[in-house]
Amino acid sequence: MRVPARLQPLVEEGIIDGVVRQLMSGKEAMVFVVHGGGESRCAKVYKDADQRSFRQAVDYTENRKTKNSRDARAMAKGTNYGRASQERAWQTAEVDALYRLAAAGVRVPEPYNFHEGVLVMELVTDAQGNAAPRLNDVAFTADEARDFHQRLITEVVRMLCAGVIHGDLSEFNVLAGPDGPVIIDLPQAVDAAGNNHAPAMFERDVANLRNFFGRWAPELLATNYGDEIWAAYESGTLTPETALTGQFTREEKSVDLEGVVREIGDAEREEAARLIRMQA
Ligand SMILES: Nc1ncnc2c1ncn2[C@@H]1O[C@H](COP(=O)(O)OP(=O)(O)OP(=O)(O)O)[C@@H](O)[C@H]1O
Ligand SMILES: [Mg+2]
Repeated sequence: MRVPARLQPLVEEGIIDGVVRQLMSGKEAMVFVVHGGGESRCAKVYKDADQRSFRQAVDYTENRKTKNSRDARAMAKGTNYGRASQERAWQTAEVDALYRLAAAGVRVPEPYNFHEGVLVMELVTDAQGNAAPRLNDVAFTADEARDFHQRLITEVVRMLCAGVIHGDLSEFNVLAGPDGPVIIDLPQAVDAAGNNHAPAMFERDVANLRNFFGRWAPELLATNYGDEIWAAYESGTLTPETALTGQFTREEKSVDLEGVVREIGDAEREEAARLIRMQA
């Protein structure tokens, strides 16, 4: 196909040498199958800020680190330069997350290049070599659903151990590759340690997986991996090897009844003594 204007700079730089077809036009990006490095690759072209939707909301960007203080000041003021740096921060967040997660052993597309607001990455394919379907476009047997669910739970644990929460994980942002699930779409990824909304976002990501795979394997609907994993993370004991049960009951502190009775008795005696002193 004719090279779209936004991909032209990549052709000029020799990063890609042709555009095969458009894959999707999502809420925030247009995705193309391109040719480069002697193979088919995927190019994600970020839309401009005014064409995007919800995910730049404060919830997500809270505490996002800016690399220099000029950027931070400008973002706070909302100047032109500030808007441009916010834009860059948003776009590079996905590349940063892809590198961090790949290093943590999470199956994500391999990033190859980021140039002029375009991310070039591995094209995830199915067994026939076509662009892989999203989970939402696949029919699962109960066994396959249990297997995919388990693997994705392992992936979110690896991500959390690397300090990252996806923040928009669902059947629409996981592809079914020939060897299992591949997690995509990470510009909104959240820093697990520095964001007040982190626990809620984590629970929501895990609940989305449970509810989706629960359609194929209903017993999954009774699991609670989200709270179990978060409790282990908060107590500092979570590792990718932590054994999980999917069951979680919040630990109630056992009540020391005798102690309470003793305290009440002490208070009563003290009060009686006070009254006697006042009469004296
Ligand atoms: N690396 C990849 N390999 C194969 N297909 C991909 C890849 N990255 C994205 N896609 C396809 O492009 C679609 C949109 O990508 P992505 O979810 O990253 O962008 P988006 O703009 O956030 O889209 P949406 O609004 O639909 O979530 C995906 O659902 C998937 O079908
Ligand atoms: Mg998406």
